[in-house]
Amino acid sequence: MSEITTPTPSPSAPKKMEDIVALCRRRGFIFQSSEIYGGINGFWDYGPLGVSLKRNLKNAWWNDVVERELIGPDGDAVHIVGLDSSIIMNPKTWIASGHVGGFNDPMVDCKESKQRYRADHLIVLGSTADNARLYAYIENDEEQCAAATKGLARYEKRDALDPSVHMLRSFMVLTAEDRARTVGPHAKEVGTLTEARKFGLMFETNSGAVRDESSLTYLRPETAQGIFTNFWNVCDSTRVRVPFGIAQIGKAFRNEVTPRNFTFRSREFEQMEIEFFIRPDSANEWYAWWRDWRFNWWQQIGLAGENLILREHDRDELAHYAKVGAGTSDIEYRFPFTAPGFGELEGIAHRADFDLSAHATHCGKGDKMRYFDQEKNERYFPHVIEPSAGADRGTLAILCEAYTTDATRASGVYMNFTPRMAPVKAGVFPLVNKDGLPEIAERLFRDIRKKHVAEFDEKQSIGKRYARMDEAGTPFCITVDHDGATSGTATIRHRNTQAQERVALEQIPAFIAERVE
Ligand code: GAP
Repeated sequence: MSEITTPTPSPSAPKKMEDIVALCRRRGFIFQSSEIYGGINGFWDYGPLGVSLKRNLKNAWWNDVVERELIGPDGDAVHIVGLDSSIIMNPKTWIASGHVGGFNDPMVDCKESKQRYRADHLIVLGSTADNARLYAYIENDEEQCAAATKGLARYEKRDALDPSVHMLRSFMVLTAEDRARTVGPHAKEVGTLTEARKFGLMFETNSGAVRDESSLTYLRPETAQGIFTNFWNVCDSTRVRVPFGIAQIGKAFRNEVTPRNFTFRSREFEQMEIEFFIRPDSANEWYAWWRDWRFNWWQQIGLAGENLILREHDRDELAHYAKVGAGTSDIEYRFPFTAPGFGELEGIAHRADFDLSAHATHCGKGDKMRYFDQEKNERYFPHVIEPSAGADRGTLAILCEAYTTDATRASGVYMNFTPRMAPVKAGVFPLVNKDGLPEIAERLFRDIRKKHVAEFDEKQSIGKRYARMDEAGTPFCITVDHDGATSGTATIRHRNTQAQERVALEQIPAFIAERVE
């Protein structure tokens, strides 16, 4: 193998979300759902490259969680089995889990602007020393920040503000009197924001021919409950013993009030969830182990930089099921639309025995459903550590992280996917469409394809073919040229450096395998 050329890459410019969305559309990563009809808010389709990228992410998760050896905090192998439960479940499931009744966001409507806001996202600023007006702004949102900046023009005499009232408060803590003095983010008048009201997030449907209350069912808002309701089936049908986990990848549906930021908050999305069942007294140890292992895992699949953080929850953020003690943390990524802030990719929660005991109570069997620990000779409801990740948010984070501008190349951009995530591992090209080069290239392509996803491309100039592969994030491009045809070699171009090396044809499949497996 010999090094041929190494162009100098140019430094990457800041990433703009609209450029990433445009590339996703142009190259077939992600499309709007039912686009020909104008789309539908909160729903997305994955094109040929996108479906491979997302599948690579889900396969990596399944492989590393369910299939490969994983060594736990005690030095023993961690035992996790898989599951694929139904999307529609007996509606009692959602009463027991707290989703019917509890699973909804408090929302605030503005009577003037007709906008709807999540109450916990509204922050309020006292205006003048007499505190006559309060101004509400939307937190962590580009549009809202713009509105807030405009709103700040309303404070021309900011210096005159009394610091004791010039402070941020949550809208949630306002009294009716305060609300009457508040101006909404997109309003001019005071008192046009309503009290916070709950908004059901579960999609409803009917199961069977009759459409009435008795046939009402829901599309699951999380895959977790399919795992909890199958806990006893798995214990009875396999040799699992606490501690062990059940893992599931599947669709979840939430009628989000404000779907936004591309696929980040959608109404149909996919989750990758583990419910890990443990003895109650080992919660701290397992919680810390899972939190750190999951954080490491995201780093390994391509989110290694400073855009990924691990954040422990404040107590007032905990979900209804989360146990204060072992804790709850989020793995968060700095998306272009959240920067300088972060958005959640995965939550790791100590759910205690909330779900298992709730299902035991609601199905009427109660304490009889306690798990029998043969080793300890005692009965209990196992506690649960839940690492719950989003496959769509993960895919989006990988796309954002990989997007790299580079003025030195024809495409102006390349996708820096890790070889494991890259939808296509190798592109194979004949330099020209004659002199026997296509035949040699095609033989090589078919050889590589026995084990790895590869693309054969004989159309357009070689520069355009490299550009297409750069945008697809293909790590290696192999070109069969005239020199190669006589010497039995081809050039391999490395995506990130654009460096090329010449390798013997028969060594190329092994060369690719070594670098992408
Ligand atoms: N079983 C726990 C649970 O569902 P969650 O924090 O509501 O917890 C887990 O959801 C993960 O699912 C999130 O970290 C996120 O990655 C993903 N997720 C949740 N809502 C989503 C939405 N509307 N769109 C896309 N992904 C979502």
